[in-house]
Parts: sequence; structure tokens; C-alpha cells
Amino acid sequence: MDESLENYHAVASMSDLEDRVPYPVDVGAEEIALVLMDDNVYAISNVCTHEYACLSDGYIEEDRIVCPLHLAEFSVTTGEVIEEPAEEDLQTYSVKVVDDQVYVKV
Ligand code: FES
Repeated sequence: MDESLENYHAVASMSDLEDRVPYPVDVGAEEIALVLMDDNVYAISNVCTHEYACLSDGYIEEDRIVCPLHLAEFSVTTGEVIEEPAEEDLQTYSVKVVDDQVYVKV
């Protein structure tokens, strides 16, 4: 395998992703949400840091993902909390796209 893809896992094809529709994937025990936004793919934890909710069940507003349970908002690009009740930022993951295949580093 290309060494630059060391520790990267193939998780989806670009054709699986729709602009600003969160797409859930699991890598081992990690629950991750992929978000295609303006031709870039971002990977963030799919689990809200407030209580347990899958962020991929929420929605994207501009560049923020909104939790379906209590409407906390996080930056898709940095994982930062934008709106309470969550107080802890989301983990983000490095993403590479090679030949239409999306890879996430875990
Ligand atoms: S579980 Fe996400 S805001 Fe409460």
C-alpha cells in the first residue's frame, strides 16, 4: 500500500456522499461521521459529547453539524463546540481521497 496511506482506512466512496449530508462509518470502535462540504470531506466523531446521540442523525447548517437530541452545534471543520449544551469539542480525523475512495486516519 502507498505509505502515505499508512493508518488510513478505506471507509466510503465519494459517490456515497451527498453535499452536507452526514454519512456514518465505523472504523473498529470509532464511530465517525463523514461530511462532504464544498468538495472537501471532513471526518468528525459521530457521537455527541453532551449525551449519547449520533450526530449523523442530525443535520448540517452552514458549516456546523447540529445534534438531533438537544441541538448542540459543532464546527464540521474543527470539531469545536459552537452552541451548548455540549461543552467538549468533537474529535476530528484526518481524511484523504484517492481515486474516489475516502480514507480516514484512525
Ligand atoms: S446529546 Fe447532543 S446536545 Fe445533547
